[in-house]
Amino acid sequence: MTSQNTMGLTPPLGWNSWNTFTWDINETLIKEVANTFVSDGYKDAGYEYIVIDDCWSLKERDENGQLVPDSEKFPSGIKAFADYVHSKGLKLGIYSCAGTHTCAGYPGSFEHEFEDARQFAEWGIDLLKYDYCFKPRQMSGELLYKRMSLALKNSGRDILFSACNWGEDDVYHWIRESGAHMYRSTGDIQDNWESIKKLTLSQVDKARYTGSYCHNDMDMLVVGMYGGSNDGFIGSKIGGCTDSQYKTHFSLWSMMGSPLMIGCDIREASHMTKDILLNKDLLAINQDVESRGAYRIKPEPQWFHDDDVFIQVKVLSDGDLAIGFFNLSDTQREISLQFWDMGLPYASKCSLELYDCWEHKTIGQFKERYNPVVPKHDCLIVRAKVVS
Ligand code: GAL
Repeated sequence: MTSQNTMGLTPPLGWNSWNTFTWDINETLIKEVANTFVSDGYKDAGYEYIVIDDCWSLKERDENGQLVPDSEKFPSGIKAFADYVHSKGLKLGIYSCAGTHTCAGYPGSFEHEFEDARQFAEWGIDLLKYDYCFKPRQMSGELLYKRMSLALKNSGRDILFSACNWGEDDVYHWIRESGAHMYRSTGDIQDNWESIKKLTLSQVDKARYTGSYCHNDMDMLVVGMYGGSNDGFIGSKIGGCTDSQYKTHFSLWSMMGSPLMIGCDIREASHMTKDILLNKDLLAINQDVESRGAYRIKPEPQWFHDDDVFIQVKVLSDGDLAIGFFNLSDTQREISLQFWDMGLPYASKCSLELYDCWEHKTIGQFKERYNPVVPKHDCLIVRAKVVS
C-alpha cells in the first residue's frame, strides 16, 4: 500500500462496458477500447480506468470456490488482460455484487468477500464495481459494503471501491464511513433526455454528500450513444439524445463532481462526442483537487422559474468559481445571476472575468450580475475569475 494514497482523491475517470455492450463483451473489444484511450487522447485527458461490468465470469464458481472468467470472452484470462491494460498505462476495473448473484445472474461475492478480493488483487485489478442485486433480505447492505471495503483494503493491492446500491437504504448517511471511493446514488441511467433530467433533479440538492475520496456517482455517461445500446432498457424506446442534451449531461456530471465513466463505443465516436468527452475546461472543473460539491442558486425572478432552471456554483481551489447556467426546461430562458448570491457584494468593488468553457474563450468582465439567454435543454458553463 502506498503511504500517500491519492486513489479516489478526485472523481475517477474511465470507460465501462455496460451501457453499450451489456452481456456482449470480450477481450478483443475491450483491448480496442484501451487502444483508443491512448490513440484518441482520452488517456492524456485523464481517463484512466477500463471497467469490465457484469457478465465476465462463468455461471458457477470452480471446485475451490473461485470465480472463473468465461474463457470464450476472455481467452487469455484476466491476469494477462490486466497486464495488457497496464502496459498501456491504464488501470483495469471489474465487477461483482454484494448479493449471491450479480444482476445478470452470475455468481456474486456474498460470503466470498475476502477470497474474491484476494483473487482480484492477484489478477492485478485496480477498481471493483460492487452491485446490489440478490442481497439476502435479512442482511444489512451497509454491513456488506463495509465487508468488501475491508477485504479490498487488505487485499495487498490498491483497489478503488465503486459501490453501486442505487442510492438505496439512505446510502448518503453511511457510505463514506464504509471506505468506498465512489457510490451510485441513482437507479440506472437510460440514453434519453428524461432520464438525464430525472437523475439530475434527484441529486441537485445533495451537494454535501460528495467530496474527496467518496464521490457521488450519478451513473455512467450516455454521451455519444445516440441510441446505440444492445440493451433495450438502457437504449430505451426513445433512444438517444441531441448533441446539446449530451453536452448538458456532461456539464452536469462534471459540475456535480460525479465520476465520469464513458458508456459509448469510443472506437466509433463522432467528432462532437470527442469534443464533449475531451473538454479540458470541464474536466479541470470536475477534477479540481478540493472536490467541493456545487451549490444551487434559483435564478431571479424566482416565481417565474421551475426547478428545471437553475444555476450551480462550484468553488475551485485557486479562488475561481465554476458557474453552470442550466436550462432543463422546454423553452428558451434568460437565467439571471446576481453575484451577491455567490458571496460577491457590490461593496467588494470586484468584478468577474468570465470564460466560456464550451467556446473556450473569454466572454468579458461583469459587475453585479450576468444574464445569459440559454436555449432549451442547454447550458452555459463559465469559469469566473475575481478581479479587483
Ligand atoms: C445494475 C447496475 C448497472 C449494471 C448492471 C449489470 O444493477 O446499476 O450499472 O452494472 O446492474 O447487471
